[in-house]
Amino acid sequence: MKPLRVLSVFGTRPEAIKMCPLALELARRSALESLVCVTAQHREMLDSVLRTFGVRPDYDLDIMEAGQTLSSVTSKILDGLGAVLDEARPDLVLVHGDTTTAFAAALAAFYHQLPVGHVEAGLRTFDRWSPYPEEMNRRLVGRLAEYHFAPTARNRDNLLREAVDGSIFVTGNTVIDAMAYTVNPRPFACEALNRVDFRRRVIAMTCHRRENYGAPMEQIFSAVAQLAQSDPELTFVYPVHLSPVVQRAARAQLEGLANVLLTEPLDAMDMHKLISRSYLVLTDSGGLQEEAPALGKPVLVLRRETERPEAVEAGTVALAGVERETVIKMVRQLLDEPARYRAMAHAVNPYGDGQACRRIADAIEWRFGRAERPPEEFHPNRASPNL
Ligand code: UD1
Ligand code: UDP
Repeated sequence: MKPLRVLSVFGTRPEAIKMCPLALELARRSALESLVCVTAQHREMLDSVLRTFGVRPDYDLDIMEAGQTLSSVTSKILDGLGAVLDEARPDLVLVHGDTTTAFAAALAAFYHQLPVGHVEAGLRTFDRWSPYPEEMNRRLVGRLAEYHFAPTARNRDNLLREAVDGSIFVTGNTVIDAMAYTVNPRPFACEALNRVDFRRRVIAMTCHRRENYGAPMEQIFSAVAQLAQSDPELTFVYPVHLSPVVQRAARAQLEGLANVLLTEPLDAMDMHKLISRSYLVLTDSGGLQEEAPALGKPVLVLRRETERPEAVEAGTVALAGVERETVIKMVRQLLDEPARYRAMAHAVNPYGDGQACRRIADAIEWRFGRAERPPEEFHPNRASPNL
């Protein structure tokens, strides 16, 4: 039987971190032929991940431009991917998560009457406007896809309630597989981080979400400035996303503070090392809510809701919202109350056991007649928190 041709399409940093290990796993299988198309919705931040994992795309749409809009990104991907699909003629197209790349690529594949597999399927906040536009993107991909790779049983249940077409597999999240590549004891590649004194308390932070643009970001940065100025023993390390909106906002409020280190985006190895050596994590990122619990670090989420409630229930993630006083209060509680800190700082890993890529590849082989049995489901009791 000829190998099944699987085209993985991704375009932003988080998709790349979570899809590169899968592309590598697919490439190892003799029953499969793995092709990679990057949209380059992100450029530098995507290329950094491709270098980390040694993945060389077969196709690169190279669409990123400063000031890109949701519509411009969508239409460029629809246009560009059409030609790629005509040439590559894949048997299956894989997309990841909830970005505009994921939605536009799934739609392009559907227009070509090709089956779509959705990796990281079934996450929901149930609020169509938050996160924006991600909640709608992932619902729409859920409608378009026929193979749904849900990280957790809860994600599967969300999809069952929506009565999506096709098959659902509970696989764990590939981010935990990615961490097997990235977590290592080497020094930081970013020199400024090698000068940080991690014997003192360091808070790793990131903030980039569209729904936090404007007033929420101002409140968050004002809280960080207040915390930093009132406690010189504390160090904040904030690798600032390259979005010009975020760059302007962060630099306006945080540049020049002695104990706030603003850096370029870090490569994934440095980022995971930073998390593992920090005291706590302050973030509105999705991926960090999965990574930090696996590394035993408390996470305060700079959002009003999360599509990742598993770690909240496990006690290592808490919602801090986007109001200045609440953020200050919740950070101070973790700094001042050792019992509260200890209760949050245990390693839990509800999101995966490092075998998600194997399960996804097994599921593909099974559904396309290349294997006799389906993969076993991921079950968090079997998860390993010891990264
Ligand atoms: C996108 C995703 C979001 C994800 C985030 C991860 C959508 C709608 N949003 O948001 O879900 O959480 O990526 O970071 O898909 N830029 C660069 N270089 C880069 C990357 C970005 O200069 O390597 C700048 C560009 O000016 C670009 C801007 O950032 O126009 C915004 O990028 P975009 O992908 O549109 O939005 P994100 O906020 O990154
Ligand atoms: N990350 C990184 N360098 C950074 C900031 C984040 O490698 O400077 C990683 C982080 O560890 C996680 C992913 O990027 O794996 C999260 O990406 P982002 O926050 O951009 O997107 P989200 O997860 O919110 O969609």
